[in-house]
Amino acid sequence: MAEGTDSAETPPPSGDDADHPQPLRATALVRHWAPKLEAAGIDTPRLDAELLIARALELDRHRLFLDDPVVDGESLLRAEALLRHRAEDRVPVAYLLGTRWFDELELEVSHAVLVPRPETELLVELTAALAPKGATTIDVGTGSGAVAVALAVRRPDLRITASDIDADALTVARRNAERYADEIPAGIAFQHASLLGDWHGEVVVSNPPYVEETTRHTLAPELAHEPDHALFAGEDGLDVIRPLIIRCRDEGVGLVLIEHGFQQASAVRDLFTAAGYRPATQRDLAGHDRITWALREDLWPLTGDQTEALRRLA
Ligand SMILES: C[S@@+](CC[C@H](N)C(=O)[O-])C[C@H]1O[C@@H](n2cnc3c(N)ncnc32)[C@H](O)[C@@H]1O
Repeated sequence: MAEGTDSAETPPPSGDDADHPQPLRATALVRHWAPKLEAAGIDTPRLDAELLIARALELDRHRLFLDDPVVDGESLLRAEALLRHRAEDRVPVAYLLGTRWFDELELEVSHAVLVPRPETELLVELTAALAPKGATTIDVGTGSGAVAVALAVRRPDLRITASDIDADALTVARRNAERYADEIPAGIAFQHASLLGDWHGEVVVSNPPYVEETTRHTLAPELAHEPDHALFAGEDGLDVIRPLIIRCRDEGVGLVLIEHGFQQASAVRDLFTAAGYRPATQRDLAGHDRITWALREDLWPLTGDQTEALRRLA
C-alpha cells in the first residue's frame, strides 16, 4: 500500500507482507481499476484507467509503463477521485482531463462544449479537400472550435468564421484558436449567432446537433454530461439542419458539408435537393452514412482538383 494513505480504494500491492511492505506502483493501480471500470459498463476501461492515472501522476500515459513509478499518497487520492467520477458518475474522460485530441491537435474541452468525436475528423478532411482556394468559410455550431481550428491548420488559405449560439462554448473555441495561433496566421473570426448570423460567403461546414429527442432514454450515460443544445434537435433530429440548408440556399452558398445521424442521410439529401443543391453522402470509418456534402446545382461538375482530392480521401 502507498505510504501515508489509508484509502479504502487502494489495491493490495503484490508481494506485500507485514514485514516488507511494497510501494504501490502505477501499473498495479491500472490493473486494479481497469476491471472496476469495465464492471461499471465503460467501453474502454483499460485506456481510461491509464489516462486518468497518468493525469493524477502528471505523466504522459506511455511513461506509466516505461517507468512504472511509485504512486505517492497525494497522487493516489487524485487518481481515485478521477476514477470514481468516471466509474460512478460516468463523466467522459475528456471532461476529467480537460482536453481531447482531434485531428492531431490537443484541444481544451469543458462542460460548455461537446467532446469532439473522431468521426468529425472526416468532416474536416472533406472540407479541406473540397473548399475552393481562399474560400470564405463558416463553421456553424463550432463548440470547442474543433472543426474551425483543424480546418484552419489544414487550409491556412481559407478565411474562416466560427459561430455558436453558446457564448461559453465560444470562449473555449477562442482559447483553442489561440493555442494554435502560430499555425493559423490569418486567425479565425468568432460570431455569437444562430446558424449563419450575418455571415456571407462560399462554404458552410457544420456538425450541428442532430440527435432525435425521442432517443434520449436510450443513450449512454456519458451524454448526459454534454450540453443538451449540442446534441438534441427536435423529434426527428433535423430542427437545426433544416433551417441551416434553407439559409444556405437564401445566401447562395456554393458548398455545404453537414454531419448527421447515420439514419438521416436520405432526409438530408432530400432537403439539399429541394434547396437546389446536388448532394452526396460519405460514410465514416465504421461504415455509417455520416456526412452529406452538397454543391449548388449550377456549380457542377467538380473541378479536377476537387475530384483528385476526393479520390485521395476514398
Ligand atoms: C454537435 S455540437 C458540435 C461542436 C463542434 N463543432 C464539434 O464538432 O465537436 C453542436 C454545436 O452547435 C451549437 N448550436 C446549436 N444550435 C445552433 C444554432 N442554431 N446555431 C449555431 N450553433 C448552434 C451548440 O451550441 C453546439 O456547440
